[in-house]
Amino acid sequence: METITNLAYLVSAVLFILGLKGLSSPRTARRGNLLSAMGMLIAVVVTLFDRQIIDFTYIIAGIAIGSSIGAISAWQVPMTAMPQMVAVLNGSGGGASALVAVAEFLRMTSQPGVDVSVTLVLSLLIGTVTLTGSLIAAGKLQGVLRGAPVAFPFQQTLNLILLSLAIALGVLFVISTPSLSKVVIIAIIGAMLGVLTVIPIGGADMPVVISLLNSYSGLAAAMTGFVLSNNVLIVSGALVGASGLILTNLMCKAMNRNLGNVLFGRVGVEEGGPAGITEQRRVTSHTAEDAATLLGMAHSVIIVPGYGLAVAQAQYVLQELAVQLAKRGINVRYAIHPVAGRMPGHMNVLLAEANVPYDLLYEMDAINDDFQRTDVALVVGANDVINPAARNKKGCPLYGMPILNVDKARTVIVCKRSLRPGFSGEDNEVFYLEKTLMVFGDARDTLTKIVGLVKGS
Ligand code: TAP
Repeated sequence: METITNLAYLVSAVLFILGLKGLSSPRTARRGNLLSAMGMLIAVVVTLFDRQIIDFTYIIAGIAIGSSIGAISAWQVPMTAMPQMVAVLNGSGGGASALVAVAEFLRMTSQPGVDVSVTLVLSLLIGTVTLTGSLIAAGKLQGVLRGAPVAFPFQQTLNLILLSLAIALGVLFVISTPSLSKVVIIAIIGAMLGVLTVIPIGGADMPVVISLLNSYSGLAAAMTGFVLSNNVLIVSGALVGASGLILTNLMCKAMNRNLGNVLFGRVGVEEGGPAGITEQRRVTSHTAEDAATLLGMAHSVIIVPGYGLAVAQAQYVLQELAVQLAKRGINVRYAIHPVAGRMPGHMNVLLAEANVPYDLLYEMDAINDDFQRTDVALVVGANDVINPAARNKKGCPLYGMPILNVDKARTVIVCKRSLRPGFSGEDNEVFYLEKTLMVFGDARDTLTKIVGLVKGS
């Protein structure tokens, strides 16, 4: 039986790896998801058969309640709220690992080996940090908690003291008789650390934090795997841990920041908060008619979507506009910046929802040189990812981040509601260029008008 179980776990692990590989491209992402889900199904079924389970009542009740909550929330959550949904799921993973560690401790009848004690403490500590940290991250993104960084004197010192205390208690747990009081105190410290390490981080940096917490939840699960001697939990936890860390690194690189700056830099203005613009400047506002005329005359158009596209839920009407323009023989493509929006792949997911063909989506490096040969760059709710301050304004939060070269296009149309800056709080020179047409308003309303005009002309 053990050999069959381990073989089944091996198949699960391979499916997880193939699933992760599939997630590296939008074309193969659905299949990747399916493969990982199959791997998880095999792992769950085999585990249920393997561990001589005496009573399935609680397990079935748990599966029914958990699956219903998961399915209903996933069905109802809007795309813009997906990062907080992921945060809650990560937090649940961390919480589950911590609970399993506590349950295993309560079941122990004799002094556990060093390996089990060490992994139990780690599972408990990392699990509780992940649980409360993820809940704070979700609360900030949902607007239930203040998005701005919350800081107080000696915050990092307090964190360091708490961490040292947890480590000291953990060592005591391993070398002396383990006790419930130590378990409880370590869990409380972990919960406090989760809160204290996430509150000083700005709301808009939460996606990076969530990716990091995702990696923690994987580590906690891997530790739990050691406690339970369950190979598939060790492998899957390690995969989540590693992929979460890689994703965190990629996001930091794409924003040209390091993890230290994200975690301790207290960057981020509150959404809709005071703009980081010191100088009052004016621009001429243009109408949807002006934009439609310009688009109708173009030979080539590059669409640049950003966070505002997600807020306005304008992906469907944008796709309709692209189809209408293509029907007129206009070459229409989409330029996707790696950190456009608020979560990795945000624009890909949104545009896939509207059935935009994958071959029209171009990554930044593949299309950046084409802007100079393009008639119109149509910017929909994007701001930081096209801001030239990233090229030339030393000291600004965007400096060094690679951007989409929309300012090199012959003309630029920008659809947004105001002159307010994006996440970085940095004013954008593109809005003030002579070749730029600012069309103010909600992106969906503006694009709906433009589509109507293009269709009617
Ligand atoms: P942003 O720079 O945040 O700009 C979004 C713009 O959308 C805003 O200026 C806003 O202007 C506009 N907007 C909001 N609602 C709108 C609506 N209903 N209709 C039309 N426009 C609307 O977005 P971006 O260019 O996508 O850049 C992303 C930023 O987030 C980068 O700084 C990036 O570093 C950061 N970030 C990204 C990630 C990932 S992984 N994607 C993770 C963390 C941080 P108005 O208010 O004037 O309309």
